[in-house]
Amino acid sequence: MIARKLQTSHYRNLVPGETEFSEGVNVISGRNGQGKTNLLEAICLFTGVRSFRGAKNPELIARGEKFARLELDFFAEKREQSASLVITDKKQAVLNGVKLAAATGFIGRFCAVVFSPDNMSLVKGGSAERRRFLDAAISQQFPTYPRLLVEYNRILAQRNAFLKKSASAAGFESMLEIWDENLSKTGAKISCKRNEYVSRLCGKTEEIFDGISSGRDCINLRYSCGFLNPDSADETAAELKKQLEAHRASDLAQGCTNYGPHRDDLVISVNDMAARAFASQGQKRSCVLALKLAEASLLEQSAGERPIAVLDDVMSELDGMRQDYLLNHMDGWQVFISCCDPHTVKGLDKGRIIEVEGGQFRIQG
Ligand SMILES: Nc1ncnc2c1ncn2[C@@H]1O[C@H](COP(=O)(O)OP(=O)(O)O)[C@@H](O)[C@H]1O
Ligand SMILES: [Mg+2]
Repeated sequence: MIARKLQTSHYRNLVPGETEFSEGVNVISGRNGQGKTNLLEAICLFTGVRSFRGAKNPELIARGEKFARLELDFFAEKREQSASLVITDKKQAVLNGVKLAAATGFIGRFCAVVFSPDNMSLVKGGSAERRRFLDAAISQQFPTYPRLLVEYNRILAQRNAFLKKSASAAGFESMLEIWDENLSKTGAKISCKRNEYVSRLCGKTEEIFDGISSGRDCINLRYSCGFLNPDSADETAAELKKQLEAHRASDLAQGCTNYGPHRDDLVISVNDMAARAFASQGQKRSCVLALKLAEASLLEQSAGERPIAVLDDVMSELDGMRQDYLLNHMDGWQVFISCCDPHTVKGLDKGRIIEVEGGQFRIQG
């Protein structure tokens, strides 16, 4: 896939206008706070999944404006295509002149793998970071998955509110029974999907990690979930329901739900030891790199063509060896790299530098 041209109006701090991209490397350079990430975020909204910054719709609209409009010309499925998004409190999406029911209709039509500073704490950060990584990756492959997450979070919030407020109300037990039933069904689908994704991700990650470490270290991934039956979502749901019932008293005492996919984790080990506790800084960075490149590879497989690669402000986090590894792996991909100093980026002979200042873009040279 190739992003050709982006037009924006009233999008965050970006000055309305259009920018054309190179098929190779695009370096978005500028000082902090000028709009580099905003530009990358705008392109990535055309993948149909939520902003990689986790922003809500109103935050995407330039301050003081009522709506934002984005238009992307891109090449995919062997033809030139165009897509637009009008953002208000919701998103209206149009693909090649056809109005879509929702922006998730873009999923699989335009894909991106995003390396963001958040990813850099994938290993050393908490489990929420790793679940976010899995959810974002799965969402780009399965259009129904984002809805499942929204649904689960809604039920979870309602169950928690119910635990806090209504413990003494009449009919409490039978009401909670209904929440538990719904939570288990939806939760089981999420845990099973994540587990399935991790088993596909694992082999690819091992292979790439082996390459980065020149065979010195080995990585292993395991999806950790206390109620999972990998072969059956129904069995998983039954097991989760059992656990919810068994721990009702502690849930009530704490006013929150202690079991479910919102507590699952992705366990990363290097040389059979938990990477979070035992891996060196360098090994941790290699883990992140291997995970993201494996994600890119699976996405390429499922989409049937290469997604675009977006490296937001991550080059400075990587040493020379890992920067080289990353850029070599991305050879032949369309890459967007944001950074403060464009001279640190190699492979620019096939690309261009786009300078950003105060939301205004200027192609250099
Ligand atoms: N909805 C918005 N309206 C106007 N400006 C915004 C909006 N959202 C963010 N900004 C501005 O965008 C700038 C940050 O842009 P960003 O792309 O993160 O910068 P960087 O170049 O460091 O990646 C900040 O100055 C911020 O105030
Ligand atoms: Mg930024």
